[in-house]
Amino acid sequence: MADNRHPSRGGDTRQGVNRRWVLTSGASTAVAVPLVAMARTDDGRSAAAPGALGAAAAGKTTTARLTVNGRTHDVPVDPRTTLLDALRETMGLTGPKKGCDHGQCGACTVHIGGRPVLSCLTLALAVREPVTTIEGLAAGDGSLHPMQQAFVDHDAFQCGYCTPGQIMSAVGCVESGHAGDDAAVREYMSGNLCRCAAYPNIVAAIRQVDFETGRG
Ligand code: FES
Ligand code: FES
Repeated sequence: MADNRHPSRGGDTRQGVNRRWVLTSGASTAVAVPLVAMARTDDGRSAAAPGALGAAAAGKTTTARLTVNGRTHDVPVDPRTTLLDALRETMGLTGPKKGCDHGQCGACTVHIGGRPVLSCLTLALAVREPVTTIEGLAAGDGSLHPMQQAFVDHDAFQCGYCTPGQIMSAVGCVESGHAGDDAAVREYMSGNLCRCAAYPNIVAAIRQVDFETGRG
């Protein structure tokens, strides 16, 4: 089973079934019903009507209940739809970027249950915990999340394409205690590629947040 976490961070299959498993196991809509049941959440919040999610949903065959950035949606999906495609193409959340679509670049990183996960290797139907994208990272009061502010302070981006994924991983880096020194940051962040080579600035931003939060 492929790993939907970054290659540098070891295995974690807690999000369950991934795209490779479906494609190689011969799974079809026959397994969609139990997968839908697994995807349901119990937070009691009202779900958006499937039709409200746009024309991109037309022709889809089942529904994934996804709690994203604090709101629960019933999202029409093909059973093979990745979380990345559900977020970008159906829900209109284009912060997570599609770089390689093969688990190699980290541009698609979001948080599931508070942990960084590669959304391009995660089936939407298999997601059972709340999802946070870069759009939902800040507090919602108009201020940036401290990691977003640190990236600005340190010019930790150039073109910006990798930046949402970098920031989501960077938050995980600090919160999981892997930002104690530059080498630890580089190791943790090695699954996030930056073609603009902003790596020294990214490390500096993460170290700043680690220091400010009292972990460093
Ligand atoms: S790792 Fe998911 S788009 Fe590259
Ligand atoms: S800022 Fe351009 S790819 Fe990272």
